Amino acid sequence: TQKVERHLQKENIRRLTTLGHFGFECLPYQLVNKSMRQGFSFNILCVGETGIGKSTLINTLFNTNLKDSRSSHFYPNVGLRIQTYDLQESNVQLKLTVVKTVGYGDQINKEGSYQPIIDYIDAQFEAYLQEELKIKRSFTYHDSRIHVCLYFISPTGHSLKSLDLLTMKGIDSKVNIIPLIAKADTVSKNDLQKFKSKIMSELISNGIQIYQFPTDDESIAQTNSSMNGMLPFAVVGSTDEVKVGKRMVRGRHYPWGVLQVENENHCDFVKLRDMLLCTNMEDLKEQTHIHHYECYRYRTLQKMGFTDVGPDNQPVSFQEIYEAKRIQFYDQCQREEEELKKRFMQQVKDRETAFKDAEKELQDKFEHLKRIQQEEIMKLEEERRQLEEEIIDFCKTKATCETLQTQPCTSIKKD
Ligand code: GTP
Repeated sequence: TQKVERHLQKENIRRLTTLGHFGFECLPYQLVNKSMRQGFSFNILCVGETGIGKSTLINTLFNTNLKDSRSSHFYPNVGLRIQTYDLQESNVQLKLTVVKTVGYGDQINKEGSYQPIIDYIDAQFEAYLQEELKIKRSFTYHDSRIHVCLYFISPTGHSLKSLDLLTMKGIDSKVNIIPLIAKADTVSKNDLQKFKSKIMSELISNGIQIYQFPTDDESIAQTNSSMNGMLPFAVVGSTDEVKVGKRMVRGRHYPWGVLQVENENHCDFVKLRDMLLCTNMEDLKEQTHIHHYECYRYRTLQKMGFTDVGPDNQPVSFQEIYEAKRIQFYDQCQREEEELKKRFMQQVKDRETAFKDAEKELQDKFEHLKRIQQEEIMKLEEERRQLEEEIIDFCKTKATCETLQTQPCTSIKKD
């Protein structure tokens, strides 16, 4: 109340004591009725090695058989299997989506085994952000953001594996992690306590943030804070009915006795179910929206160049930034167009110069050949003239000879 009073004073709001009945006291009921009509949705991500008991635990939680096929140990990469179910308890509808890892921890090289998980979580945030940014938004949009990650730790009794640490470190800022020791019936009571402490100290020393049940609501603060001290929950799953005395209970039958899943002395299954479904489902959804999604949204919009304050520390509106970005984009387009034009003109010039050079070269070559040809013609002319002179000389000599030949014969006859 003091906090509320301080807030009212700060905001300069006057508190009035109302007299009579107005009706707005019914507002919570209106909300409840509306929510009941619309139904609820909850998205769980189960991360854990193949065969660690993920499907069995989900079946035990919802006391149903969600009919999930078993995975092989021979997948080359880690994958995810997504299934959505419509469940009803009394008159409350729940759309439950279970996302389960497939082939997790089976590869020899485990580098990047957690990447598909991170990618999936981010993809759901991105889909939500895209829907939020749409002009025409769908009011029946199915919100697929992951509300909780149940991280199944192998019941080794030793410590966390490096893959556990890497994966949890990679997703702790994106999703609410609740660590679970799977198949806790395989670890003795003493070992289990030591194992829990070891896991928690390893998580703290590696700076891994796990989900803390909220303690700000007085009605559940005590329960939640004691539950925070019991993490990670040691769980056992089974949908088999076993006879204990005259009662049939869900449990696992061993040669030395029966483990009752819903017996708090045997395992933490009931604690997990109460915390997850009964007490904190709404907080898990709220944390997803106001904390993890908000971080994603902030980072993404900032990367796109949006901000709330300008360089002068003055608030700037979304429209202003959009307008500035539009002008910036337009200027950039213009600059690119100018640059393109300049480059084109330069190319044309270069081509023209190249053509002119080639033409000049051809012309020179042509002139050179023409000169050679003329010289050749002159040489031939000269040779022809010489030949003609020789022919004339020859003809003259021939004529003289012929004259000489005829003259002696006549002189003999005269003698
Ligand atoms: P994949 O989907 O194939 O990766 O397996 P999963 O992790 O969903 O395991 P699943 O629930 O199919 O269980 C594998 C085997 O472990 C089954 O034989 C279960 O009966 C058994 N199992 C499940 N939970 C527990 C448990 O808490 N304790 C013990 N001892 N066995 C369990």
